[in-house]
Amino acid sequence: MDLDIALDTRRSARAFKDTPVPKELVEELLLRASRSPSGTNVQPWKVYVAMGATRDRLSEELLAYRETHPDDGGKEWPSNSKRIEPYISRMRKLGKDMYTLLEIPKGDKQANWDQWGRNYKFFDAPVGLIFTIDKDLDRTSWLDIGMFMQTLMLSATACGLDTCAQGAWNQFWRVTKDVLDIPDDEYVVCGMSLGYADETAAVNTLVAEREPLSSFAFFR
Ligand SMILES: Cc1cc2nc3c(=O)[nH]c(=O)nc-3n(C[C@H](O)[C@H](O)[C@H](O)COP(=O)(O)O)c2cc1C
Repeated sequence: MDLDIALDTRRSARAFKDTPVPKELVEELLLRASRSPSGTNVQPWKVYVAMGATRDRLSEELLAYRETHPDDGGKEWPSNSKRIEPYISRMRKLGKDMYTLLEIPKGDKQANWDQWGRNYKFFDAPVGLIFTIDKDLDRTSWLDIGMFMQTLMLSATACGLDTCAQGAWNQFWRVTKDVLDIPDDEYVVCGMSLGYADETAAVNTLVAEREPLSSFAFFR
């Protein structure tokens, strides 16, 4: 597939079919993703692949924990990030568009909670990926993880697969680490659903808008 087509057609999918993804294909995509650049070629990415019974157990245990510990959703690393403009408006726009498609009324807290919880089922995708990084590495290495993830997502698009990157997985990380046997000296940076999108699902028609060039590129 032409790179431009992959860039234009990749979208976050939030409803997947149960069509399985062969392990060999997952391995191929991960190998391609490892062609991503990284500062001084340290290749800091680590990825835990949850499939089959392990994927199911992870979802079950995390969702059960989330019900009994709803306030334990903090990140493992120190974070004092504040929601400021213009980012908060962009986030709200995405949420409004998505919840309209999902027919979830504004203010319906239970429906919101349940929908966010779908993250922890990987939106029913057969493959769940959890990206981690050694705690000792610097912020610049986190960039490398992002590049690895984007290469993986574009490679998946080129192979006819769909993805959704999921920061949701840096919440309730205790359960994820426990089920996937992730060493304590790694942070759970992000998750990702991988599979074949359910094209009949309204949520998958969402096209997230982008800001104009002038809002982010500054030619001096
Ligand atoms: C680092 C990262 C974390 C994300 N976390 C989530 C998430 O937890 N749940 C979710 O539904 N989408 C998540 N997304 C998807 C974004 O909402 C999506 O990329 C954005 O709205 C742009 O839409 P597009 O991917 O369809 O172009 C995440 C994306 C990135 C890059």
